[in-house]
Amino acid sequence: MTVESVQPEALAPDLREPPRAGGGVPGLGHGWKLVRDPLAFMSRLREHGDVVRLKLGPKTVYAVTTPDLTGALALSNDFIIAGPLWESLEGLLGKEGVATANGPQHRRQRRTIQPAFRLDAIPGYGPIMEEEAHALTERLSAGETIDCTSESFRVAVRIAARCLLRGNYMDERAERLSVALATVFRGMYRRMVVPLGPLYNLPLPANREFNRALADLHLLVDEIVAERRASGQKPNDLLTALLEAKDENGDPIGEQEIHDQVVAILTPGSETVASTIMWLLHMLAEHPEQADRVRDEVEAVTGGRPVAFEDVRGLRHTNNVVVEALRLRPAVWILTRRAVRDTELGGYRIPAGADIVYSPYAIQRDAKSYDRNLEFDPDRWLPDRVKDIPKHAMSPFSTGNRKCPSDHFSMAQLTLITAALAAGYRFEQVAGSNDATRVGITLRPHDLRLRPVPR
Ligand code: HEM
Repeated sequence: MTVESVQPEALAPDLREPPRAGGGVPGLGHGWKLVRDPLAFMSRLREHGDVVRLKLGPKTVYAVTTPDLTGALALSNDFIIAGPLWESLEGLLGKEGVATANGPQHRRQRRTIQPAFRLDAIPGYGPIMEEEAHALTERLSAGETIDCTSESFRVAVRIAARCLLRGNYMDERAERLSVALATVFRGMYRRMVVPLGPLYNLPLPANREFNRALADLHLLVDEIVAERRASGQKPNDLLTALLEAKDENGDPIGEQEIHDQVVAILTPGSETVASTIMWLLHMLAEHPEQADRVRDEVEAVTGGRPVAFEDVRGLRHTNNVVVEALRLRPAVWILTRRAVRDTELGGYRIPAGADIVYSPYAIQRDAKSYDRNLEFDPDRWLPDRVKDIPKHAMSPFSTGNRKCPSDHFSMAQLTLITAALAAGYRFEQVAGSNDATRVGITLRPHDLRLRPVPR
């Protein structure tokens, strides 16, 4: 018996309809507010209720605003990955990858990829993470202004590609991948929030650049797969696991699924980490006292030698700095689900087919959950304080069956990179830097430019 075949319990007859969020505009509903200032809009919704109805054009969408109900949503079998966000992603990145599959296919795909992300697999990536973190600090040694967007993308893509799809060819490909992914993500978000349909087919420079980058991304993935096959090698890595995976009937999975799986792992893996590195760089520049504390911890742990992967476990404060950055600047700031049957959340009726939305950004900044909620305070993650934080109030990697497989992988590299950066440099924003939050598929600074000052 599969989970899908379990008959849901009958719904209580007295379920209420969620209140409608205030502030809608006749004809347009809440859409214009969501487009104009999505973070502020999502952050204020809790004032209207635990679950609220939004009107986005003609459509009713349900927003969940409390930590416990976002947890209930993520853990319930009544909701799946679907909705406009996922459909746009599928259209561009492929339909058969783990990030958009549901049901038995999703469970099978998770079983295939999970071993590469298990806690005991992470030390195997240590030498590459270390090499990339030090290559980054080495590049800064010239003292030139850093374009944080491209540097962060470069290191995130290189670590994901080199660790998970190992191969000598990866150095040159990782550069191409970072350029392609940066352009694809920029264009994808535009296509989601401003769905102009055929206008995106016009031969305008921006459309051409987007199409070129998307085509190169898919071509690169084909090249990586073809070259691995031609090499006849089967290293113990994620790509081998994908190439050897079997479907539900024990048959090899198809070419399209292999392709889509590689895309579905590389794309979320690079944009999220890159955005978080940008915010960590921003934090080091804006909170020099925090940067000094990280540097002090690194020195105490390493005794002054270059920080190594093995040190990460001892870097408790640096880890808390990364967690606090993920709280205030969660790369994944909005998530959606679709109800597969008539169901209930927090005593409210949710009809089958309804789209549900929630924002980790709003949840993780909520004054009801966090003391001095907008303050950057890594010590709130110390053991004697962390117990005051409500369950599900901090979930940057999500929870339940769609939880990011890469939480350990990401935390290890982010902690190592933060330690290496703070140990070597102080950072200052330069004239022309724009650190305003840019809302896209992820959150990141618009155009952060920093000057590294050696310590
Ligand atoms: C899923 C966040 C890094 C691969 C997710 C989800 C979140 C998330 C919130 C769940 C989406 C949902 O519930 O609908 C993050 C953050 C990261 C990060 C904040 C780093 C700061 C990575 C990396 C990889 C990765 C490095 C791979 C190399 C994936 C995949 C999924 C996913 C494949 C889909 C899982 C599924 O649907 O079963 N991530 N992620 N992520 N992430 Fe990450």
